[in-house]
Amino acid sequence: MSSPLTLALPKGRLFDQVLEHLARRGLCLPPPGRELILTDAQGKLKVFIVKNSDLPVYVTHAIAGLGICGSDVLHESGGVFFELLELPFGATRMCLAAREDYEQEGAIKRLKVATKFPVFTRNFFNTRGIPVEIIKLHGSVELAPVLGLAPYIVDLVETGSTLKANGLKVVEHLENITVKFIANPAYYKIHSAQIDSFVDFLKEPS
Ligand code: PRP
Repeated sequence: MSSPLTLALPKGRLFDQVLEHLARRGLCLPPPGRELILTDAQGKLKVFIVKNSDLPVYVTHAIAGLGICGSDVLHESGGVFFELLELPFGATRMCLAAREDYEQEGAIKRLKVATKFPVFTRNFFNTRGIPVEIIKLHGSVELAPVLGLAPYIVDLVETGSTLKANGLKVVEHLENITVKFIANPAYYKIHSAQIDSFVDFLKEPS
């Protein structure tokens, strides 16, 4: 029997959605407790549970040959991966947001933005020729306009409830973010048959 494929999965809301997607197709992983490595009963898959933003590091170094994460995480990492499949769940939007009462006078000519996504933010506005001052944060970004750290944030919006609860509004929808199944290119070359059949498995109707 071939050795299990190695797959990095991010902690957080995406994790449960991936486990459900696998379980519906008959691949059940033990319910995670505090352990960070899980193997399915048939020994097909070894899963490493990592912090979202660290996932590309594990795949780049081929510690995990495969990974599932949002395209936002791939943007930030700047790494080179094979994107093998877009998964049908977890889609969000990258948005520019500000306080509900904030009024921009005229077209935006320069921006001060707090964000967890400095690479995306710089690339997006530089492509439009808009200079941007970025304040990097690691979470609770919605606080920045409320407390006066920056008038704008660039952040993921899924239901919109976090923005609403903090008195913020979407100023502009910048990009759709989707969930990708990725591979380390060298790992893919070595395990292509096994990985291709795993892609087919992920595509199966539930
Ligand atoms: C993300 C994002 C927003 C929130 C949006 O944060 O950064 O804060 O989800 O979701 P909503 O539109 O459904 O309210 P996450 O939950 O990953 O936590 P974090 O701020 O600690 O990164």
